[in-house]
Amino acid sequence: MARIIGGIGTTHVPSIGKAIAEKKQNDPCWKPFFSGFDYVHRWLARERPDAVVVFYNDQGNFFRDKLPTFAVGAASKYRNEDGGWGISVSRAAAGDPALSWHLINALVADEFDITMCQDMLVDHAVTIPLALMWPGGRWPVRIVPVEINTVQPPLPSLARCLELGRSIGRAIASYPEDIKVLIVGTGGLSHQLDGARAGFVNKEFDQLCLDQLASEPDELVRYSIAQFVELAGAQGVEFLNWMAMRGALTGKVTQLHRNYHIPISNTAAAMVVFETARSPSRVPRSVVAAKKERPDERSEPSLA
Ligand code: DHB
Repeated sequence: MARIIGGIGTTHVPSIGKAIAEKKQNDPCWKPFFSGFDYVHRWLARERPDAVVVFYNDQGNFFRDKLPTFAVGAASKYRNEDGGWGISVSRAAAGDPALSWHLINALVADEFDITMCQDMLVDHAVTIPLALMWPGGRWPVRIVPVEINTVQPPLPSLARCLELGRSIGRAIASYPEDIKVLIVGTGGLSHQLDGARAGFVNKEFDQLCLDQLASEPDELVRYSIAQFVELAGAQGVEFLNWMAMRGALTGKVTQLHRNYHIPISNTAAAMVVFETARSPSRVPRSVVAAKKERPDERSEPSLA
């Protein structure tokens, strides 16, 4: 059966793509951001997911005049297309149609009226996080992109996005293939790109969101979209993608790593790594026996 290894939340600011292209990772202004991913690289090298479900918002690149509230890709390949950000087009990402259709069937059975896309372009909100997680080379995973409308009101609520994630989490747990799945939510945290509050960030609110996302995500549904925009900025609602990511993580969730850096472009850039507990039945017997003999030992190997 498939297993969710954990979740990653990360900003997707387009200028990261330019910084990567110009090899600015060690520049003083970029280093605090990029170094937050050193941990991610070690964790992914150890965990080796086969597939990634990416919750993201399309910004008028694919869904120009018709914007679904929720859309799920079912393609074998996703080409990148980005308009207007000045970043070069990246490689295409491999898809996983079988996993996509399993998720689509489960979502519709759970009464989510999604749009299913057998042909789908993806923008920087998908490709920048992939480039951050697997820098330099190819992306050794198949992806299922799940678009959430965070752009054009009316937006889905925080509660609905948490439930969308939960439905996908249950669907992955029932997927018969023996694969490891990583869940990713992109965008945020607080930022506003235009209007009178352009450049707005709210560090205190971001920290509260990150704390509650880890330990009590249901508490966050108390905010309406209007309240969230007031507190996090017009584009801060990209946090809906993080809510869906967290919803997909079942069982005990541990925050392994967090990085927060202000600002990148207009944005408070955050990144978290969550790990889901392994069910004991999946751990080889020899490991269980060894743990019983050493009850005080921490169960998570240190990656620091
Ligand atoms: C920026 C941030 C975003 O989340 C985005 O989608 C586009 C631009 C920015 O800060 O420049």
